[in-house]
Amino acid sequence: MSTDSGETSGAGTSGAGTSGAGAGSGEPDLVPPPVVGTGGVSEGVTITGSASPGGRDAAAGSGRLAGKVAAITGATSGSGLAVAKLFAAEGASVVLLARGEVRLKALTEALGPNVTGIPTDVSDPDSVRAAFGLIAAQFGKLDILVNNAGIQRPCAVESLTDHEITAQVGTNLLGPIYTSRAAIPLLRAAGGGEIINTSSEVTLEVFPYQSMYAVTKAGLEELGRSLNIEYDKEDIRTSTIIQGVALGEGGGPLDWDLNHEISSVVWPRLQAEGTVQRIIGKHGGQHVDHVADVHLFIVTRPRGQKLDVIRVRSY
Ligand SMILES: NC(=O)c1ccc[n+]([C@@H]2O[C@H](COP(=O)([O-])OP(=O)(O)OC[C@H]3O[C@@H](n4cnc5c(N)ncnc54)[C@H](OP(=O)(O)O)[C@@H]3O)[C@@H](O)[C@H]2O)c1
Repeated sequence: MSTDSGETSGAGTSGAGTSGAGAGSGEPDLVPPPVVGTGGVSEGVTITGSASPGGRDAAAGSGRLAGKVAAITGATSGSGLAVAKLFAAEGASVVLLARGEVRLKALTEALGPNVTGIPTDVSDPDSVRAAFGLIAAQFGKLDILVNNAGIQRPCAVESLTDHEITAQVGTNLLGPIYTSRAAIPLLRAAGGGEIINTSSEVTLEVFPYQSMYAVTKAGLEELGRSLNIEYDKEDIRTSTIIQGVALGEGGGPLDWDLNHEISSVVWPRLQAEGTVQRIIGKHGGQHVDHVADVHLFIVTRPRGQKLDVIRVRSY
């Protein structure tokens, strides 16, 4: 899929790139640097806040994931990028999965030799198969799968386009099914491992104009419950992070432009009802580094420790 930034989507070559703009250039309306709100209930209408700064604890970078192989979807922006950076700093071999090749190439060059990128559209089963075929060929196993890629566009049900429906179902729900299906044999080859699914606080509260996002994230949470039971005996653990607003870098998904007509309805209502102020919370929104810290906790906790759902919200 082409975008204004010259990006190309779909599975194929490892770490390949094209010339053109860098991170986030496909979403100029969503990039009020240095703080970018790319998700939560207001994704698509831009949250700006003064998030508490990111930053690592003193033990960061002490090799806690040495020898591990991690695949992260949506790893070129937001929390996926923060998780990728942290896991790489902890010594993991990290595979970034996203569609845009320009960002993938720039990040693999910036993050060092233990980070590779595979252009992948998680909503396309063939693309996912190809990507995990490359992971199998390169590593022969996988220790961690992070199903982080997600998109949303606030919209009244009657105004949803076919693309808005299929893209959200494809990315947020079918994507994690495809990736989990492909990853499980590799997690088994590692002798057990982790699947982390990224859900949203939208499953905890009913927000207006969030139907597609809510139903896909609710389905994702059910997928996690099933995976947890099905693969318990093989020590493949699935955890669901129910996330609130998180602010970070990257610029969001490449081909998911702001719909000004719809956002002009959504945004005033959310503000008038106090939703925006409430979900950002008293700290001005959490930083994606804090979300990444939770991922590290999940994958480094003792093997016998049971955990299925973690809520990580801004207030
Ligand atoms: N940020 C928040 O406030 C917030 C709150 C609650 C939950 N969440 C959840 O947290 C996750 C990350 O959100 P974020 O806001 O941090 O991300 P983001 O900045 O919006 O970035 C989205 C990432 O997903 C990738 N992506 C989009 N469609 C894809 C597809 N079909 N196949 C592969 N990759 C795809 C994008 O790269 P390409 O476009 O190049 O593919 C990009 O790397 C999502 O699941 C979101 O629902 C976020």
